[in-house]
Order: sequence, then C-alpha cells, then structure tokens
Amino acid sequence: MTPMLDLIRELPDQLRWAAALETPEVPVADAAVIAGMGGSGISGDVAAVVAADAGRRVFVHKSYDLPAWVGDELVVAVSHSGNTEETNSAIDAALARGIPLVGVATGGRVIDRAGADGFPAVPVPPGPQPRAAFGYLAGAVLKVLEGAGVVGPQSDSLLEAAAVVEDLLDGDGPPIAAGIAERLVGRVAYVYGGVGVGSVAANRWKTQINENAKAPAAWIPLPEGNHNDIVGWTADPALSADSVGSVFLEDGGDHPQIRRRSRFTRELMEQLVPTAGVVASRGTGSLARLFSFVAIGDLVSVALADLTGVDPMPVDVIQNLKARLAEEQS
Ligand code: F6R
Repeated sequence: MTPMLDLIRELPDQLRWAAALETPEVPVADAAVIAGMGGSGISGDVAAVVAADAGRRVFVHKSYDLPAWVGDELVVAVSHSGNTEETNSAIDAALARGIPLVGVATGGRVIDRAGADGFPAVPVPPGPQPRAAFGYLAGAVLKVLEGAGVVGPQSDSLLEAAAVVEDLLDGDGPPIAAGIAERLVGRVAYVYGGVGVGSVAANRWKTQINENAKAPAAWIPLPEGNHNDIVGWTADPALSADSVGSVFLEDGGDHPQIRRRSRFTRELMEQLVPTAGVVASRGTGSLARLFSFVAIGDLVSVALADLTGVDPMPVDVIQNLKARLAEEQS
C-alpha cells in the first residue's frame, strides 16, 4: 500500500477528530471569507457549500490580499504549512484593516503570527501533505464557522461524513474506483459536477489527479459547462475520442434540471468522448455526500498513479516554485 493510500484511509478519523474539536473563542460574524490555497483552500469551498445550505454567506479567496469589500466578515486563513505566501498576505490585509481573523494551520507563520499578533488559531495535527489532511482542514474550518455563529453545529454532519467515507474505504474500496482509474490511463480526465457538492468534489478530483497521479485533468461545473464546454469536442474528433475520458459526479441534492443536464451531457459526450465513470453520491447531508465523492476520487487518483508507475506523494514542482518565488522576493 502506498503511504498516500494509508493517508487517504485516515480520512474518517480526521473527520471524527474535527467533530470532537473544541475551538478557541472566535469573533462572532454574519458571514466569512476563507483565505487559502490548494489542498488547504478547498476547505473554503466545502465551507461555502455547507453555509449555502444554511442560508449563510461564505466566500472563498484564493489569492493575495483581501477583496476591497471585506469589512466585518470573519477571515479564516487556512494553510496546512502555515507558510503559504498568498494566505499570509491575506493575514497582512486583515491585520492592517482591522478585520476579524482566525488562523487554521499545522504550524509555521500562521501559528507564530497568531501568537505574536493576538488572533485566535486552531492548530491541526501535522502530516506530510496538505491534500492528505482534508478532513482536518475542512473540519477545523467548519468548527471555526460554528464558533463564530456563521453556521450551526457541525459535529453530527462530520460524523455522518466519517461513517459514509469509512464504509466506502472498507476493504479495497469500491470497485468503481479501480475501473475509472483503468479507463483514465493515457487520457485527460474531464470531471463534471453540479454546482455545490458535485462541482467542489469535481475540483478535488482534478487536483488529486494532478498531484497524486501527476496527470492533467479538468473540472467542469454544470450548468455552466452546458454553455461552453459542450461545444468544444468536435473540431478534432480523434483528439476528443483518444485523449479524453469523462467522469460524471451525480449528487442526490442536485437541482432537478442539473440532473437532467448531467444525463443529457453524458449522452451527448458519449458520442464524442469515452465515459470513464458515473459516480452517485452517498449519504444524506451535503457534507457526507461531498466527502463520499472525495473518497472515491482520492482512490481513483492513487490507483491511476499506481497504474502509471508514479509516486503519489511528492509534489516537487510546487515546492520548487514556492522556493523560487521566495528567493526572488528577498
Ligand atoms: C497539496 C499541496 C498544495 C498546497 C498549497 C498550499 O498537497 O501540496 O496544493 O496545499 O500549495 O500550501 P498550504 O496548504 O501549506 O497552505
């Protein structure tokens, strides 16, 4: 078993850790901005889905600084390493503009600065890769939002997500994951999901295929993809047919028209691009349904790495780029 597969198998325990997490006192707010990048920033996308269900506003910021409109929203700066420069730039902006702020990190500058500048922080357990700490990071962000009153109590939905994921990861995992990985070898995965649960999960599938299998991939939200992506397959039919594989994530919570759009898109695409898989979400709450897709996507990415002889763990290209940027700045 690859070490990355071992880490994926920790996901239920990470979600249970978050369910039991007691956060420090955090500022009360009506809405929040989650600032973070990559395997940390996607926690913000999860939080936005959960908040939208509750009729609350959570915005995700994946860049430097903070948008000019941010004022009394709670900023949650989430960085696994604590050292990501975009996330620390959002902290700079929040501190300079007197915006309420909470950090979530394993350590690094986010935790150091929380101590020095006097904002609350939630330390999460250390681990080798941010993307393998998704349960810790998303769970901690949700618990911070619960503490701020942005969303209601989260423990039950975190526990439901843990149970659904545990069931999926039982034994060798669902056979659907191995089958999809086999059908994606030598192809660019195009992962489709309805706005909300499906598209956040599709983004996670894309980034896991990028980072674990070191392969290109794309994610397409529906209905938006029906207004552009759907037109892009005919100019070079051989390229579409030989180089791409589509995956459809179909969530029980999708708008009925999105369900129809997903089916029609699939039927249309089948004529042009082979379908590598159709995955239905499991679970009742949106968090459980989202993590059910995540568990299968994580398994697909590692199985694909295995089939193509790639080590899922290292992401040297990201580390080298970060080092180069830091060097040029100093
Ligand atoms: C995921 C990964 C990256 C990082 C991103 C931000 O495993 O390596 O996507 O998550 O570069 O870094 P952190 O999470 O440390 O803020």
